[in-house]
Amino acid sequence: MYAICPTIRVGLQIDKGVKKGYSVVEYEVLIRGRYRSWCATFKGEKMKILVVLGHPNPSQSFNRSVCETVMQTLGMMGHEVIFHDLYAEHFDPLMTYDETVKNGPIPEAIQPYIDEALSADGYVFIHPNWWGGPPAILRGYIDRVYRSGIVYSFGPNGVISRVVGRRAMVITTSNTPRDIEVSIYNDPLENFWKTVFFGMLGIDGDHFRHRNFESVIMSTHEQRVRWLEQTQQLTEKVFGS
Ligand SMILES: Cc1cc2nc3c(=O)[nH]c(=O)nc-3n(C[C@H](O)[C@H](O)[C@H](O)COP(=O)(O)O)c2cc1C
Repeated sequence: MYAICPTIRVGLQIDKGVKKGYSVVEYEVLIRGRYRSWCATFKGEKMKILVVLGHPNPSQSFNRSVCETVMQTLGMMGHEVIFHDLYAEHFDPLMTYDETVKNGPIPEAIQPYIDEALSADGYVFIHPNWWGGPPAILRGYIDRVYRSGIVYSFGPNGVISRVVGRRAMVITTSNTPRDIEVSIYNDPLENFWKTVFFGMLGIDGDHFRHRNFESVIMSTHEQRVRWLEQTQQLTEKVFGS
């Protein structure tokens, strides 16, 4: 059966008794148990949050579970969620030369994504670590949607961002242990999202949070349940009042 939360444009599969790897199905009880307290405590303004998932597995990945936990939490907080599963939508990540030129044309297929990005009050990106960065489909989404001259531009005093001060959360997963990711690779995901992308767009400090869950490949069921609880808490914190 499919349950549709009114503020979320996505269905959550609830097949009781059917084991689906470590998909969100197993954790539905956990989420529902907190519904009442969220409703009681949430007094903030309703926001429009753009959630973007970049993972090729349509239903069975831990990324998918994280994504659905985020969307349920946002929905229960009363926020409107705009969701893009880039693989499911067959998003074309190839930016053309025309798009790189100043004031170049905006492709018809990309304009709605840009409109959403500009009108959103907050952003959530969820993806696995692929060679120290997001999967190419998500990199392409960023290239084509958060375009120079549209989402940001350069003025006499530096970058002028049209999304400054909005809220953002990034949740990533990887297999490399944290100490190695930091000591050998210099924490590339944190650097990209915090400094290169959101930092430049004027979203930093209390408005931005990045959490990486590792090592997924060595994690237990209990560990993943805890990570989903942390996902829920972080979502509340970033997008709460
Ligand atoms: C093309 C590719 C590149 C990857 N590169 C890295 C990497 O650089 N560092 C790392 O820790 N894991 C890397 N991984 C492992 C993924 O991050 C890991 O499978 C994923 O986080 C697990 O989450 P999931 O269960 O939701 O798929 C890579 C996986 C693939 C397929």
